Amino acid sequence: MPEDLDIHPLDELAVDGIAALDEKISGTYSPEVWERRTMYYIRRDPEGSFVAESDGKIVGFMLGEVRSGEFGLERPTGWIEVLGVDPDYRQQAVGRRLAEAMLERFRELGVERVCTLVSESREGLTRFFAALGFKASDLRSLTLELPAKEAS
Ligand SMILES: CC(C)(COP(=O)(O)OP(=O)(O)OC[C@H]1O[C@@H](n2cnc3c(N)ncnc32)[C@H](O)[C@@H]1OP(=O)(O)O)[C@@H](O)C(=O)NCCC(=O)NCCS
Repeated sequence: MPEDLDIHPLDELAVDGIAALDEKISGTYSPEVWERRTMYYIRRDPEGSFVAESDGKIVGFMLGEVRSGEFGLERPTGWIEVLGVDPDYRQQAVGRRLAEAMLERFRELGVERVCTLVSESREGLTRFFAALGFKASDLRSLTLELPAKEAS
């Protein structure tokens, strides 16, 4: 683990660092998307999403929220929705530390079940969640492809 690793709640100051990190991971620079997304999660719970900093820069983030009454789930359910760790900092427990912070926050909010969605093609992500104890569940994702209408 990086010696100076600092995990703390997401704040507005993190937007630029997350956008830069996302560009490094995905190849696309989308500051407006990250500004909107960051504000959304801070509004949902200012203590509920987390960033990891090392050497003065953002090296990881994990965004999520608690939902209840949706998808037929009555109990409050924690959802881990967006995450990323700097490729230069992977396999050093940054993701695990982010998840621990998030799970602790979920616990404080009375959550007893945490969910996420992972594409079967994303082996690294799948193994990461498996290492944290996540298992396939009775919740099934259903998808409908909706082709755009042809212009008339
Ligand atoms: C998945 C991801 C978050 C893991 O972050 P990380 O900091 O490298 O993970 P950690 O070092 O904390 O690993 C925790 C555990 O998961 C396992 N793990 C993590 N990545 C793994 C991989 N690619 N393959 C196998 N196991 C993996 C580790 O071995 C470790 O297990 P252990 O504690 O039993 O030894 C990171 O690889 C990532 O950001 N991937 C891209 C995410 C992405 O595409 N996001 C966009 C969609 S939301």
